[in-house]
Amino acid sequence: MFDHIPAYPGDPILSLNEDFQLDPRPNKVNLSIGIYFDDAGKLPVMDAVRHAETALLGAIGPRSYLPMAGLPLYRDAAQALVFGADHEARAAGRIATLQTIGGSGALKVGADFLKRYFPASQIWISDPSWENHRVVFEGAGLTVNTYPYYDEHTGGLRFADMIDTIGRLPEQSIVLLHACCHNPTGVDLSPAQWAELVPVLQRRKLIAFVDMAYQGFGASLEEDAACVRLLADAGVPLIVASSFSKNFSLYGERCGALSVVCKSKEEAARVLGQLMSAVRANYSNPPTHGARLVANVLSDTSLRASWEAELATMRERILAMRGTIHEGLAGRVDEVMRARYVAQRGMFTYTGLSEAQVERLRSEYAVYVLRSGRMCVAGLNASNAGYVASSIAAVVAGA
Ligand code: LMR
Repeated sequence: MFDHIPAYPGDPILSLNEDFQLDPRPNKVNLSIGIYFDDAGKLPVMDAVRHAETALLGAIGPRSYLPMAGLPLYRDAAQALVFGADHEARAAGRIATLQTIGGSGALKVGADFLKRYFPASQIWISDPSWENHRVVFEGAGLTVNTYPYYDEHTGGLRFADMIDTIGRLPEQSIVLLHACCHNPTGVDLSPAQWAELVPVLQRRKLIAFVDMAYQGFGASLEEDAACVRLLADAGVPLIVASSFSKNFSLYGERCGALSVVCKSKEEAARVLGQLMSAVRANYSNPPTHGARLVANVLSDTSLRASWEAELATMRERILAMRGTIHEGLAGRVDEVMRARYVAQRGMFTYTGLSEAQVERLRSEYAVYVLRSGRMCVAGLNASNAGYVASSIAAVVAGA
């Protein structure tokens, strides 16, 4: 019966991470998947999360199904973090927010909603974008196109080309944007560039779908969400997928949220209902545990302060590692290749390494980066950064 089923070629990120786990070499370094490791190379459990978890364990309660839209306290906290607690659209009750299974779940529920109510619309993602964006949107039946984004010659942004392409899209097209810490390139729009993009989206009557998986990893929680608030203030039709995987170090708990900014409270209620119907069709309702942890941390003043402080430390450590590898490569690779480690922001740097160089890094040096050349700099630490720099220098020299 299943003879005709072809083998799965694997996922460029998750399968490589699984290969890494099986690699027996003691000097292996995982810079593939977007996971933050601490300076000891360990996946951190944040203090605030540990406290919230201990409190939850002391008060284990029954676990019925959550509503299709998720835990109310979590939905409110997630919305406040994305838009700002005092945002006018929140006060007016015109943002439909629901809990989703991670950021990927938010993208899928949003994609299903768009496919159903904008059947003629196509989506444009950045070139390049997170590999799974295309998979999720095509999986929902949308046609996926790209707009120019990354300039491989400079390691920067092709902003003029990006604006030009977006400025010519058909009305009601969907434009997928990364709020901060662009995945995979680490190249973001500046505030001035966001301000230039907003009227183009408005004039062309486009739908902005913002993916914000790294809030707090670029600059601050507020600065990283500035573009979302700019778009909401301008009245651009706006959908936001957000995630607590990285900034709470809660990857496996799958804590995400989807928000749609509407014109009125009544419109938001209708939209929320249809998002719930998409959730029901996909997985019925979201899980309880991670959502309780996040909601309890965000709604408790002292736990929240502790979380924000620890997140700032993580962000600073990533910046320090960027500096370390930048120094380690001095005089060993050309300046265009070296400068990007400090110019790009967030968890990822697009190294500019070729597929063959990436393959040599893995097979000869046990250093794992993605085939595209994306490196997760959040996997660097004081003990491995020097080795990684030497390994890169060796494969670039062809030595
Ligand atoms: C990544 O880009 O590495 C992460 O977002 C993990 C994933 O699911 O791909």
